[in-house]
Amino acid sequence: MAAAVRKQSCGVFLVLSSFFGLSLGLFGGGETYRRQLIVELNPGSPLPPPDGDLLHVRAVGPNDTLHFLFCSLGAPTLLIVHTNTSSSTARVNWPKFEARNISGSLKVEPESSVLDSTAVVFTRLFEYNDVNDTANATSDLFPPYELHDFNWSRLSLSGPSAVLCGAAVTFTNGSLCLQLSVFESEGRGQSWPRLLHNANASQIRVKLEGVLPRAMQSRFMLELQAVGGAYPLSRVEVHRSIDDEFTPSIFKVAQWRSEVNTSSSGSGFLQWKPVAYRRSDPALEDATPCRHSEPRPQRSEETAALSALIMAFYSRAEPFGLNVSFGMAGQPFYNSTRFLSWTALVGVGSPPVDSFSPLVLSIMAVGLGTPMILLLVGGVCVCMQKRTAPPTLAYEPIN
Ligand SMILES: *[C@@H]1O[C@H](CO)[C@@H](O)[C@H](O)[C@H]1NC(C)=O
Ligand SMILES: *[C@@H]1O[C@H](CO)[C@@H](O)[C@H](O)[C@H]1NC(C)=O
Ligand SMILES: *[C@@H]1O[C@H](CO)[C@@H](O)[C@H](O)[C@H]1NC(C)=O
Ligand SMILES: *[C@@H]1O[C@H](CO)[C@@H](O)[C@H](O)[C@H]1NC(C)=O
Ligand SMILES: *[C@@H]1O[C@H](CO)[C@@H](O)[C@H](O)[C@H]1NC(C)=O
Ligand SMILES: *[C@@H]1O[C@H](CO)[C@@H](O)[C@H](O)[C@H]1NC(C)=O
Ligand SMILES: *[C@@H]1O[C@H](CO)[C@@H](O)[C@H](O)[C@H]1NC(C)=O
Ligand SMILES: *[C@@H]1O[C@H](CO)[C@@H](O)[C@H](O)[C@H]1NC(C)=O
Ligand SMILES: *[C@@H]1O[C@H](CO)[C@@H](O)[C@H](O)[C@H]1NC(C)=O
Ligand SMILES: *[C@@H]1O[C@H](CO)[C@@H](O)[C@H](O)[C@H]1NC(C)=O
Ligand SMILES: *[C@@H]1O[C@H](CO)[C@@H](O)[C@H](O)[C@H]1NC(C)=O
Repeated sequence: MAAAVRKQSCGVFLVLSSFFGLSLGLFGGGETYRRQLIVELNPGSPLPPPDGDLLHVRAVGPNDTLHFLFCSLGAPTLLIVHTNTSSSTARVNWPKFEARNISGSLKVEPESSVLDSTAVVFTRLFEYNDVNDTANATSDLFPPYELHDFNWSRLSLSGPSAVLCGAAVTFTNGSLCLQLSVFESEGRGQSWPRLLHNANASQIRVKLEGVLPRAMQSRFMLELQAVGGAYPLSRVEVHRSIDDEFTPSIFKVAQWRSEVNTSSSGSGFLQWKPVAYRRSDPALEDATPCRHSEPRPQRSEETAALSALIMAFYSRAEPFGLNVSFGMAGQPFYNSTRFLSWTALVGVGSPPVDSFSPLVLSIMAVGLGTPMILLLVGGVCVCMQKRTAPPTLAYEPIN
């Protein structure tokens, strides 16, 4: 009986130790892929273009380059072009680019090196009066804010990050700002939701700050359109995500990708956690859930007409669009803080996957390690006792 128990605990010990080893191996070390970043504003333009800026960040790897192009001519757009050489360049024909009526005015050269491309366009901001507090945007919509009509500021650069702010007349003192960050290597955002990024993904934070809402019970919704080079970005998959100290209380991550299995071809994705924050320095209660609609095909010419970058780079885009709505029934309205921030990653290849944080790992180590050590010590003690004690018969023979 005792032997059986010992055997069993040996088994448990083995399982525990292999799990522990495995988790350390999986989540411990891991080499990071680095890229060298080269930032250019309005490449090849003698003067700052009057209607908006074009930021070009070349992220150069050992054998490839990611070109991040962010533009405020028309609706704000981020385009990522992946090439198979570390010496590709972007060339802009400025008069044609600014005329915004033909494709081919922006090229990544040599053209034969282009592996794939992905773009995201921020097209509209919807506001609705949620009189019955259902957070259902199908009724009482105000006329949408068309982002291609906004007066966008000049791009404000700091290293490989850029901020673009714009406003509509009715915003009074408020603004809608997009903050783009491109990264040299793996890391995590500074503020919640603290998304994990790598050298193949950029991050965009959308902030709606200080806007005078058109109703007391206004809520907002953002329309995005995405264009994939080889395959359209036609579906959003929602995965479970580890509850982790980085994004408290959010258990899901959404990934907008193409229908095809693209793990090998390395095409583009958008990734976000379904949460927005109602303060710039949020506490847990300032988190507000987001929902997205199903991606729907959009008319290619319309998207190209909204965005100078789409018009210039794609001869035929296959855009899909969706809405991200902020807030759920029963939650405070925009007026309560007049602030919303939402963050997404835009990149190529495999979207980063959250693993256990060091804190969770150490809790696991203590939680699993302590019983393990106890078992080990217990096992050794029992063995020692058995060794030292002379073998005795279990039952005294009855005379
Ligand atoms: C880059 O290409 C060279 C030669 O083509 C190859 O030897 C090297 O392993 C590649 N490096 C990476 C990081 O893929
Ligand atoms: C594009 O616009 C420019 C100036 O606005 C004009 O001269 C040119 O003819 C237009 N091209 C096409 C193809 O419409
Ligand atoms: C990749 O690089 C090779 C050699 O430079 C080139 O021949 C090829 O066309 C490039 N493009 C793609 C999409 O593989
Ligand atoms: C709000 O509720 C009232 C009463 O239930 C209903 O008549 C009205 O249509 C609702 N409004 C909206 C915008 O759903
Ligand atoms: C929103 O309202 C429409 C019609 O009023 C209804 O069909 C739909 O199910 C509602 N959606 C949600 C999320 O409540
Ligand atoms: C855009 O800016 C110009 C000049 O600063 C101003 O005259 C115009 O009213 C602004 N338009 C909007 C929609 O804010
Ligand atoms: C906008 O800002 C100005 C100056 O900062 C201030 O006087 C005005 O009251 C503000 N308007 C609103 C609606 O907050
Ligand atoms: C980034 O892309 C490069 C080239 O496609 C690939 O070798 C590398 O593994 C990727 N890094 C990550 C973290 O996905
Ligand atoms: C993608 O790959 C998975 C497994 O690798 C497979 O089950 C699935 O059917 C594939 N989907 C498509 C659209 O090819
Ligand atoms: C977003 O929602 C608005 C309002 O309901 C709708 O008009 C628009 O078509 C939606 N956009 C997409 C891409 O579904
Ligand atoms: C909403 O805004 C109005 C003024 O526009 C203000 O009087 C009211 O107190 C605000 N409500 C909340 C909850 O902040």
